[in-house]
Amino acid sequence: MARPQITLKLATSLDGKIALSNGMSEWITGEKSRAAGRRLRARHDAIAVGANTAVIDNPQLTTRIDGEPDPIRIIFDTHLRLSPESELAKTAHKTPVWVFCKNDEGEKAQALKELSIRLFPVPYAGQLDIVAALDFMFRQGVSTLLVEGGGTLAASFVKARAIDRIDWFRAPLILGGDGRDCIGELGLKDLTQSRNFTRVNITELGDDLHEEYETIS
Ligand SMILES: NC(=O)c1ccc[n+]([C@@H]2O[C@H](COP(=O)([O-])OP(=O)(O)OC[C@H]3O[C@@H](n4cnc5c(N)ncnc54)[C@H](OP(=O)(O)O)[C@@H]3O)[C@@H](O)[C@H]2O)c1
Repeated sequence: MARPQITLKLATSLDGKIALSNGMSEWITGEKSRAAGRRLRARHDAIAVGANTAVIDNPQLTTRIDGEPDPIRIIFDTHLRLSPESELAKTAHKTPVWVFCKNDEGEKAQALKELSIRLFPVPYAGQLDIVAALDFMFRQGVSTLLVEGGGTLAASFVKARAIDRIDWFRAPLILGGDGRDCIGELGLKDLTQSRNFTRVNITELGDDLHEEYETIS
């Protein structure tokens, strides 16, 4: 099946955590990393996040760079948990918001549609079918996608072998085992099943490191 080129962006502590157990994640990485992250957004047609990130962080997912277009903002949100009061919903009339979901009917669906949010039902088998969503995006003209997490959505992309490169911003702090992982469970039983990458660049960004990886096919 055809799909966009996919970049996974991770902004983590040294021990690979993206948030505390209570969901708090602002700000793990420094300003230079965050600026690089916004430039990364500007190089992609669309950005995807999971429903937990959309609900907990209430992000805008824009570039905030003068003269740079904002990508389409895509949420994987099975049960339409996105609030009509959220930053994404409030700005959907000027910067597109697409929601992949199980069902696009009912009161909540109507409220989101009235805010110009586009709802796209995709097959569901325990979770939304990533491959079907990617095929749909590609056919709609999305040729580059930036996946910004959280860990549960990132794991689904890794499992689907749908990551072409990783931009990993790593800050010099430790959040511990009760923090939220940047990649959720993969259920691997043997090291030969691991997903492997090759590092193609490292840059210092203030106190942080920006590591770039490409998939080994
Ligand atoms: N440091 C950073 O840069 C950064 C970046 C992003 C997020 N975060 C943090 O990460 C935390 C959220 O991460 P998270 O792992 O809990 O959740 P997440 O990945 O943001 O969202 C997961 C949810 O997305 C929905 N979903 C729909 N289809 C899915 C699919 N095919 N695969 C996976 N998920 C799918 C599911 O909820 P439904 O069943 O309800 O649809 C699932 O529970 C927040 O605390 C946020 O602050 C940090």
